[in-house]
Amino acid sequence: MKVVAVASAKGGVGKTATAVNLACLAAESGRSTLLWDLDPQGAATHCYPSKPKVSGSPNRLLAGKRDLRSQVRQINEHLDLLPADPSFRIAESLLAGRRSPQKAIRRLLKPFVDSYDIAILDCAPGLGIVTESILAASDLVISPVIPAPLSIRSLDQLDRFMTDKQPGLPLLAFLSMLDERKVLHRQIIEQVRGDERFVSVAVPVSSSVERMGMEQRPAVEASPRNLAAQAYRRLWAEVETRLGLD
Ligand SMILES: Nc1ncnc2c1ncn2[C@@H]1O[C@H](COP(=O)(O)OP(=O)(O)OP(=O)(O)O)[C@@H](O)[C@H]1O
Ligand SMILES: [Mg+2]
Repeated sequence: MKVVAVASAKGGVGKTATAVNLACLAAESGRSTLLWDLDPQGAATHCYPSKPKVSGSPNRLLAGKRDLRSQVRQINEHLDLLPADPSFRIAESLLAGRRSPQKAIRRLLKPFVDSYDIAILDCAPGLGIVTESILAASDLVISPVIPAPLSIRSLDQLDRFMTDKQPGLPLLAFLSMLDERKVLHRQIIEQVRGDERFVSVAVPVSSSVERMGMEQRPAVEASPRNLAAQAYRRLWAEVETRLGLD
């Protein structure tokens, strides 16, 4: 099973939109896919109808004593969702007190490795112990970057964090919520052109992505011909190549 984390130091950059759409495309390509909502806010979980029940002690969960397989919900033939768990609100402090916090996420994923081809992890923003543990379990990190100078700085922070905690782990960045009518956005396109962390795909700002929470369907499924959907498709093709899946 390949593990792809969608992560950023910054909030509101399009991580959830990316994770949900890429998971949909992975499943569409016939790969058995697990979308894991690791953000206790549950935005990815909310992109699908009906609220699943999640219960149990956070301590037991993070100690690897709860089998998460019972929480999994089938979305379609090839896609399963592991919904947000409120326990993760205190994961940071719980993991801080453990001996090998880096191993926590890998341990939680263990029961799934033989059942799925790919797991896509929608991460909460930030660079703490939970993110460190996610990196230790991942084969690739995807980071959406909104076209603003501060966002590039937060990509640099993630990059340094990865080099420090998980040297060699590949990072794939792309411009998210791009509006080419804006001068600043066009300047940022130029700025990142020579930056090898960035793929040439940029996801444009699009109401079809905005509507996802309301319609509870990924944009690539609800509006497949939309420009943002097409960009996610190119991004998925790039991810397949990077993971050696094509
Ligand atoms: N391409 C897009 N076009 C228009 N709106 C978008 C696009 N991508 C994301 N959004 C909107 O921007 C907001 C933030 O997106 P999203 O929730 O995916 O970001 P996030 O990085 O997961 O945020 P958080 O850090 O809070 O988890 C949401 O309201 C979402 O609908
Ligand atoms: Mg999110």
